[in-house]
Amino acid sequence: MTFLIINGPNLNLLGQREKSIYGDKTLADLEAFILDNFPDDRDNIIFFQSNHEGDIVEKIQKTLGEDRTKIIINAGALTHTSVAIRDALAAVKHPFIEVHISNVYARETFRHNSYLSDIAEAVISGLGFHGYVAALEYLKNK
Ligand code: DQA
Repeated sequence: MTFLIINGPNLNLLGQREKSIYGDKTLADLEAFILDNFPDDRDNIIFFQSNHEGDIVEKIQKTLGEDRTKIIINAGALTHTSVAIRDALAAVKHPFIEVHISNVYARETFRHNSYLSDIAEAVISGLGFHGYVAALEYLKNK
């Protein structure tokens, strides 16, 4: 099984951006935290971060035809805007979980809409970095 963990725009600025919302840990800290929780799966976890919608679409497209891939995606602001990312996820048909570090439902109303949620296995929002671990735990054991 391969787990592709995708982080979208501005998540490369974790630890520097809006610390009261996202905390003071970096993207590298997040990736280390995930690997520490799944030491036996290190070789099967792929991290990808991009600020560009098309790059994320292409990364998802490249998994087409892989029969043992599962995806965890925090598409950042693209969650609320991107039909293209939704279509890519629908095309490859891999089970995926949508994750948000913050509780988007406790924030501005424009964050309440997601183009991904209704085709996701699940949505985890507001558990901080633990959301990624919970998602991986679920996808791994499912
Ligand atoms: C986010 C929430 C989004 O609304 C926001 O645009 C982000 C991060 C989160 O992880 O809480 O960039 O996806």
